[in-house]
Amino acid sequence: MTKDYHDYFIKDGVHIGQYEEMYQNVEDPWHINGQGRRLDMEAALTVLRHQRRRFDKVLDIGCGTGFFSNLLREVVDGQIWSSDISAMAVRKARQRYPGINFFVLDAGQAVELEFDDHFFDLIVMAQTLWCVLERLDRVFGLFRRYLAPGGLLLISQHFLQPGEQAYGAKIVATPDDLLRRLEGAGFEIRDVLETNRRRNHHAAIVAAPAGGQEDAA
Ligand SMILES: C[S@@+](CC[C@H](N)C(=O)[O-])C[C@H]1O[C@@H](n2cnc3c(N)ncnc32)[C@H](O)[C@@H]1O
Repeated sequence: MTKDYHDYFIKDGVHIGQYEEMYQNVEDPWHINGQGRRLDMEAALTVLRHQRRRFDKVLDIGCGTGFFSNLLREVVDGQIWSSDISAMAVRKARQRYPGINFFVLDAGQAVELEFDDHFFDLIVMAQTLWCVLERLDRVFGLFRRYLAPGGLLLISQHFLQPGEQAYGAKIVATPDDLLRRLEGAGFEIRDVLETNRRRNHHAAIVAAPAGGQEDAA
């Protein structure tokens, strides 16, 4: 039987996490290419535009083949570094979007990156929460370490309907759960933009390290 992306991602309540195999065997695993700009992407860009600033040094975590990284250029004047755990995804992304710096990173394992601490003024994690759910503390630690004072974090995420989530529901099941986790990890919530709670529920959350100074821009 032909495998689809669920066989590599989450199946029957278990996180399989075979992302390299997935990108080797499935051309467009998340059905991103050809769907155009989905509403969750528009929501994420809208909430970033609403910050009334442009970004200079941006890190995208879990970028896949780079479609959303490329949309981020609409709010970025400087450079974008985009990362994914899959070397195959990174290879495909480099071919598609040569203007972006793609590299391989396991955000659930990494403690130290090849950047100065507090280097980025925007860190983005789009549709990647479930992939790193059991490593959230580590991932949030990475965000705090590499966000500049006044820097912002964007988490854009799809949520299932109540009762539908078989994997990780005790860790995070709703946008409110995620907000609480972020606050517990030392972030303050700046903005939340949610799409249809009844179907295709997404939340685009902008947060900043608590106690950080406001950006002057
Ligand atoms: C649903 S895709 C999201 C792609 C893109 N951000 C978007 O919004 O269209 C999730 C991506 O996270 C990547 N991923 C999974 N675990 C990861 C990890 N530990 N560190 C970095 N990326 C990871 C997967 O390979 C996959 O490309």
